[in-house]
Amino acid sequence: MTNRRDGLLTRNSGGQSRGSRIAIAVGIGVLLGCVFAFFFPHGFFTPDLANQGRRIAKASFQVGGSPCESAERVNMLKKELVSVSEKNAELKKEVKELTEKLRFAERGEDQAQKQVLVLGEQHKAGTFGTVKGLRTNPTVVADESVNPRLAKMLEKVAVRKELIVALANANVKDSLEVWFHSIKKVGIPNYLVVALDEETESFCKSKDVPVYKRDPDDGIDDIGRTGTNHAVSGLKFRILREFLQLGYSILLSDVDIVYIRNPFDHIYRDSDVESMSDGHSNLTAYGYDDVFDEPGMGWSRYAHTMRIWVFNSGFFYIRPTIPSIELLDRVAARLAKKNEWDQTVFNEELFFPSHPGYDGLHASKRVMDRYDFMNSKFLFKTVRKDAKMSKLKPVIVHVNYHPDKLPRMKAVFEFYVDGKQDALDPFPDGSDW
Ligand SMILES: *[C@@H]1O[C@H](CO)[C@@H](O)[C@H](O)[C@H]1NC(C)=O
Repeated sequence: MTNRRDGLLTRNSGGQSRGSRIAIAVGIGVLLGCVFAFFFPHGFFTPDLANQGRRIAKASFQVGGSPCESAERVNMLKKELVSVSEKNAELKKEVKELTEKLRFAERGEDQAQKQVLVLGEQHKAGTFGTVKGLRTNPTVVADESVNPRLAKMLEKVAVRKELIVALANANVKDSLEVWFHSIKKVGIPNYLVVALDEETESFCKSKDVPVYKRDPDDGIDDIGRTGTNHAVSGLKFRILREFLQLGYSILLSDVDIVYIRNPFDHIYRDSDVESMSDGHSNLTAYGYDDVFDEPGMGWSRYAHTMRIWVFNSGFFYIRPTIPSIELLDRVAARLAKKNEWDQTVFNEELFFPSHPGYDGLHASKRVMDRYDFMNSKFLFKTVRKDAKMSKLKPVIVHVNYHPDKLPRMKAVFEFYVDGKQDALDPFPDGSDW
């Protein structure tokens, strides 16, 4: 870790790429020196080539004797002079080309070399089928100075540098209660409520729930107290950033979620972002080829498209890496500028590739198992009606597809935790608006 950091910090004043650039520059210098020594044996700073020629001519006069011979020699020397001048021009062109090449190489090398500095050594590609790109990015160096009070709190609450984090204000108090009740029941110790108002803070304290409230003089806190859902969503990404800067992996959780087993036993930890899906089938959750048909095109009527149901921005595991933090920043910046749905922004930033005028984010991502991390559409439309599937216990159920959250959350808890077989029966598949 330290080495990587050193690499990053010193990339402007030393390091591998600089070293190789110096080597190239020295090589070019030596080459030029040789060339100049060959063509300008009398030094580089003689006034001009014509003068030099005249001097050589004079000298040969004295040595050669006969004027006729001398005239011939002068002609020869003049020819030589012309060819030297031509070579000089060629040389100048070559130097120019070399300089261009060097500059180009530097530019191209720059991005790649920076990445090498971050990632470590360069490697040869292995044999067929053995190469694997990087998806588990290195974690950032923890910076406690970002928020010493939170750092202290996380030291106590986190397990293996990870924890569940939920933001809550008084509007979601009832859901929050079912939420932490289920967490306690499973016996998950590493979770924390970020209270956005005093009421929520004291409620959590009264229930012995780990709670953190930001300092009242912190500017971004006002949004939390008075804010609409969307403003709170923007705040979520700003607050999360601090947790990552402190070096923790966060399982960000909405409060309309019931915990049935410990999610940390079912996380892969290999990607920057690992998220539950809004998908209702394997295809929609994990991605498929959606063929667009335009009969008028005849032979080429079928255009293939890539589709995947969105990642749910209310339940994802995020590792403390540079791409993760960049993601949070990009989402927060966009939400601050324009009133957009945070989940849409979250997904667009994650998935849209670089294109003219836009640099895409390059974060690694994984979709959580949709049977383990279940959305309420899958549960109410499919799972509860299937004898086999309804016997399997998910890790969590997110009541994200239904507005009557509290009664459904309670029913989910009764069904999976208390074993009440008919608890889910009263509810329709969807909502009646
Ligand atoms: C969906 O994918 C899982 C593995 O991820 C597999 O076990 C299951 O059989 C698949 N279901 C269907 C209906 O294909």
